[in-house]
Amino acid sequence: MNPTLEKLKTKFDQALIAAFGSDFAGVDPMLVSASNPKFGDYQSNSALSLSKQLGLPPRAIAEKIVQYIDITDICEPPVVAGPGFINFTLKPSYLEAQLNAIQADPRLGIAQTKSHQRAVVDFSSPNIAKEMHVGHLRSTIIGDCIARTLEFQGHDVLRLNHVGDWGTQFGMLIAYLREVCPEALTTANAVDLGDLVSFYRKAKQRFDEDEQFQEIARQEVVKLQAGAEDSRRAWLLLCEQSRREFQVIYELLDVKLIERGESFYNPLLPAVVEDLDKQGLVVEDAGAKCVFLEGFTNKAGDPLPLIVKKSDGGYNYATTDLAALRYRIQQDGADRIIYVTDTGQTNHFAQFFQVARRAGWIPDNVELVHVPFGLVQDSDGKKLKTRSGETVRLKDLLDEAIDRSRADLEARLKEEGRSETEEFIAHVAKVVGISAVKYADLSQNRTSNYIFSYDKMLALQGNTAPYLIYAYVRIQGISRKGDINLEKLGTNAKILLHEEEELVLAKHLLQLSEILSNVEQDLLPNRLCEYLYELSKKFNQFYDKWEVLKSQEPVRTSRLILCDLTAKTLKLGLSLLGIQVLERM
Ligand code: ARG
Repeated sequence: MNPTLEKLKTKFDQALIAAFGSDFAGVDPMLVSASNPKFGDYQSNSALSLSKQLGLPPRAIAEKIVQYIDITDICEPPVVAGPGFINFTLKPSYLEAQLNAIQADPRLGIAQTKSHQRAVVDFSSPNIAKEMHVGHLRSTIIGDCIARTLEFQGHDVLRLNHVGDWGTQFGMLIAYLREVCPEALTTANAVDLGDLVSFYRKAKQRFDEDEQFQEIARQEVVKLQAGAEDSRRAWLLLCEQSRREFQVIYELLDVKLIERGESFYNPLLPAVVEDLDKQGLVVEDAGAKCVFLEGFTNKAGDPLPLIVKKSDGGYNYATTDLAALRYRIQQDGADRIIYVTDTGQTNHFAQFFQVARRAGWIPDNVELVHVPFGLVQDSDGKKLKTRSGETVRLKDLLDEAIDRSRADLEARLKEEGRSETEEFIAHVAKVVGISAVKYADLSQNRTSNYIFSYDKMLALQGNTAPYLIYAYVRIQGISRKGDINLEKLGTNAKILLHEEEELVLAKHLLQLSEILSNVEQDLLPNRLCEYLYELSKKFNQFYDKWEVLKSQEPVRTSRLILCDLTAKTLKLGLSLLGIQVLERM
């Protein structure tokens, strides 16, 4: 929590006891950030809610609290307003002390969590032999940001890639390849993922049309699951080919993941069904083993089944997720398991969570969270597709962002009459292009759909990555211009806050810890984006109005430190979004 708020709460508690006796220890002071800066920084509504209990008018209560509260080192004298609100305004001297204390700390004064957890983040998770689509891109970007934030907060995070590398699709694909491209099953690098995807499409078509082929494909699945040598080798090759291409995307995005695909849990599947059976949860229905769900019904109002073993003896996506869940709790020691997928899978998660709970597999201390996200749409509000109606290849999408960012940069350089090396141009184009894609995604409330627009995400103005990176670059430019080494300003160098814009910026800088706690809890990266966007705006308002390099000492040094702290905060915040900063752009 925000340390200032914590201090205020303690003082408030003491004041209540002093004013009304020890019965009032621990009453919630109902302190919130003031909605309007006109009313100060924090506001308490508790006098209103205590009125009934104390039999006094709220304003009288508020005045008594104000009389007893001892916060002269933190706030200006609190003000009672309206029906009985208490408004608190932080003192510049208090803000100065807070900022001076965090200035040299690489964590910027943000303490590590006291309730350490082992968290599993299950994200990205594309499927072998299928193209990674924009949904997987969202999962990768959002999951990475969540993992980074939890790691920074001091949690132990296991980043798992639950790759779809098992199941009936391999039977189809292997059977088809044996016919049309047998070398793909025996030789590494014989085909690339693009070929595999089109083979897969044709195999699926064949499967849907040809009964004989269906039978052959089924036998291939059985062979593979029984561990037949050549089937296994073919499967490994197919996985290898897909994996290579996924890796290109992960490297471009700078995302680290541990692959633990669906196949990993294969040996654990029979025990899942047996254990459910032992608990009396399994019902046989038309040859399939299922668990009937509570609260999920079909159109006729009958309970829906969750199939855990199909009539042909095979297991499915849900069985694998149940096995994975048990493994993550028992073997990985997870306290919090976070799954990042599109909203389309919301029922799937609710359903197998329910079955696992009813089976008694989820200890009380373990939290299961599905983190859903919406669709990526084109400018017509339709699901993003290529012009010919196919899935957009992520590599193409990211390359285009980089190309466009390069074109923007080259135009700007020309306009400014600057010349830069190819190395510089390539680096800036890549960082800005990738950051723009990431930020456009993360800055949306993830539960809603968003419209993909290169123009919007690459704009230098507005809530975009280029705008934030530019604010950082602007600050780096100040010390470059003044030939200042901020590390060498010495310990006597202090922040002094006089002007309104300085105070506003200072207060905002001190809110990062609260924002990160929120993201840690609600897993909504857009909160951090909003914070950083506000920070950049507040910095620009300050910098547009006040001189830094040309001001007199000690103001000059103070402002330089304030700038530096802003830059450090931007850099840290952006790094948690998976976004790199630039020294120049
Ligand atoms: N492979 C799945 C898909 O592409 C996502 C897997 C998500 N994780 C999980 N444990 N079910 O839709």
